[in-house]
Amino acid sequence: MCGIVGYIGTKKASPILINGLLRLEYRGYDSAGISTVEKNGLSIMKDKGRVLNLTKLEGIDDLEGTIGIAHTRWATHGKPSPENSHPHQDNSKTFSVVHNGIIENYHELRKFLTDKGYTFYSQTDTEVIPNLIHYYYTNDKQNDTLKFLRAVRNACFDLKGSFALEILCKNYPDNMIVVRKDSPLVIGKGMGENYISSDIPAILSFTKDFYLLNDLEFVILSRNEAKFYNKDLEPIDKKPKVIEWNASSAEKEGYEDFMLKEIYEQPTAIRETIGAKFSENSKCEFENLNFTKEYLSSLNKIYIVACGTAMHAGLVAKNAIEKLCKIETEIDIASEFRYRDPLVDEKTLCIFISQSGETADTIAALKLSKEKGAKTLAISNVIGSSITREADYAIYTHAGSEIAVASTKAYTSQVVLLVILAIYFAEILELDNSYVTNLKKEILELPKKIEETLKLSEKIKEFSKKVYQEHDIFFIGRGIDETVAKEGSLKLKEISYIHSESYAAGELKHGPIALIENGVTVIGIMTDPNLVEKTISNIQEVITRGAKTLVITNQPIDTSMFDMMIQIPDTHPFISPILSIIPLQLFSYYISKEKGLDVDKPRNLAKSVTVE
Ligand code: AGP
Repeated sequence: MCGIVGYIGTKKASPILINGLLRLEYRGYDSAGISTVEKNGLSIMKDKGRVLNLTKLEGIDDLEGTIGIAHTRWATHGKPSPENSHPHQDNSKTFSVVHNGIIENYHELRKFLTDKGYTFYSQTDTEVIPNLIHYYYTNDKQNDTLKFLRAVRNACFDLKGSFALEILCKNYPDNMIVVRKDSPLVIGKGMGENYISSDIPAILSFTKDFYLLNDLEFVILSRNEAKFYNKDLEPIDKKPKVIEWNASSAEKEGYEDFMLKEIYEQPTAIRETIGAKFSENSKCEFENLNFTKEYLSSLNKIYIVACGTAMHAGLVAKNAIEKLCKIETEIDIASEFRYRDPLVDEKTLCIFISQSGETADTIAALKLSKEKGAKTLAISNVIGSSITREADYAIYTHAGSEIAVASTKAYTSQVVLLVILAIYFAEILELDNSYVTNLKKEILELPKKIEETLKLSEKIKEFSKKVYQEHDIFFIGRGIDETVAKEGSLKLKEISYIHSESYAAGELKHGPIALIENGVTVIGIMTDPNLVEKTISNIQEVITRGAKTLVITNQPIDTSMFDMMIQIPDTHPFISPILSIIPLQLFSYYISKEKGLDVDKPRNLAKSVTVE
C-alpha cells in the first residue's frame, strides 16, 4: 500500500523519481507527488490520479533538484485529492514528508499540535508527521548537525502504528532522513548517489547493493554516504547486501500486461523454486533449515497462516503435510489468527506465507506466534523482506518479481515449495511413504506440464468471450479441487469485478443451488480420481437447472454434457492445483481484457497490503 521512492545524487531527481513511481504504481494508484530540494527551498508537486497525471503538471519539467522524495498513494485516510496526496509539509514548509503506513494515534497528535497553534489542510493521518517534526525541531535548543535527526527521532517515538518515511528539510539541503517501522523501505547504494524505495525491483536497474533497514533504524543520507543510527541515536554499522535479481523481470517484455507475462513465467518460476532441493533419488534439502527428527516428532500441530492467495496455497499444502508427515495442520487467515488467541505453544510450528513478505497482518501473526513460544518459518518471494527477517527460519520461492496485483506465479511457486517442505519433513521423520519417489518425479515434470497447460489458452479465451458479461460465476470442486475453486474465484473477483463464489461441490445442495438458474455459469474442477464421479453428479444437478458449465479435469470423462471441457495433464493429486489453476488464471485474465479493464491494477486493490 503506497509506494515510496527517493533519490539523492548528482543527476536531476524528478525523472528518476517519476520512473520509480511508475514501477511502484502497483502498490497504490490513487494519487502521486514529489518534493525536491530546489535553489529556493523545497518544491512540492502532487495530484490525485495516476502517476501520468503528475507528469503533466505545469513546471514539473523545470525542477532542477538532485535530491527528492516521491509517493504513489493508496488512500486510507481521506479521499484521493490534491490536498490529501503526499508529500505533506509542515505549516512553515521547512519539512517535506512521504509516508507509507498508518498513524493510529493521529487524532490525538492532531489535537496536541492544534493546541500548540498548528493548522491542517488535509484529512490524512500523515500530515501530523511534518508538523510534529517541526515542533521538536523548533524546541531543540542545540544547533548541531544532528538537530534534524533528533527531531525526526522524537517525532517517530510519538507515532503509534506503521510507517516508512522519507523526510527532507530545507535547512539541510544535502541530506535526507529515512526510517521505517512495520512498513517496507530499502536503500540502494550507487556511486556518489543513493536510491530509496518501498521495494527492490523499482530501483534494481540502478544498483544491486541494498541496505535493508530494521524497525526504527534511522538513516541520514547524503550523496556519498548512508549513516545509520539506532533508536538511541548511536551510530550503527550496516553492510549492503547484494541482490541477484534480474531487472528485466520488472519489465513487460512484449506482453500486453504483467499478469499475462507472469502466468507464462510459471514454468521458469517452478523450475527455479525447485532448484537443487532434491532429485528423484536424493533426499530433500533446504540450505537454511536444520529441523531434527526429535523436534518434528514433538510437534502437536503445524499452523499455516497467510492472507488471500498465499492462504490458498496453504490450503493446498495441508493435504500434503498431513498425509506425508502425519502432523495435524491448520490453516488460518492472518487477520483472524492474530486476534483470536490461537492455541499455539512450543509444540506448534507456525509457517507464514507471503509473496511480498510485507503483509501487515501476516507479520503481526508471526510476532504473536513467537511470543507464544512457537518456532516460526517464513515463506516469501522477496529476499530480506520483513517477514523473513522476523522469523526463526526463512525459505524462498524463486518466482522473480511479481508486479500484477493478482498473484499467479507466486501462488504456484508457494504450492510447490510447501509440498517439497512436506517431503523434507517426512524424510526427516523417516516415515514410510512409498509414493514419495513418484511424487518427486511428478514435481520435476511440472515445468513441462505447465507449458502444455499454457497451450490451452486459446480454448479458454473462447469460453471467456462467451461469459464475460455474466454477473455471477460459481466455482465448485471437492477435496484439493475445492482449494483451487477458492483461488479461481478470488482471481476472477479481483480483476473482472464479476461476483463470484466458490463452494465445496457437495455443499451446493445445502443452500447455494437456489441461486442457479438459466444461464448462470458454473466452473467445475475435478482432478481427484476418487472424487470425480461425485463432482460430475453435482455438475449434472446445476446443468438440470440451466447452468452453463466449464469443466477443468485431468480425468478421462465423457465431455458431452458440458459446454466446454479443458483437459489438463495428469499429475500427483498433491500438486494438481499447480496445473488446474492455470486455466482459471487465464480465464480471469481474458474476461478482464474482454471487459476492457486494467488487469494489472484492479480498482481498490494494491499489491502489498502493509496496513491492517
Ligand atoms: C492475490 O491475487 C491477492 N492480490 C492477495 O490476495 C494477496 O495474495 C494477499 O494480499 C497476500 O499478499 P502477500 O502474499 O504479499 O502476503
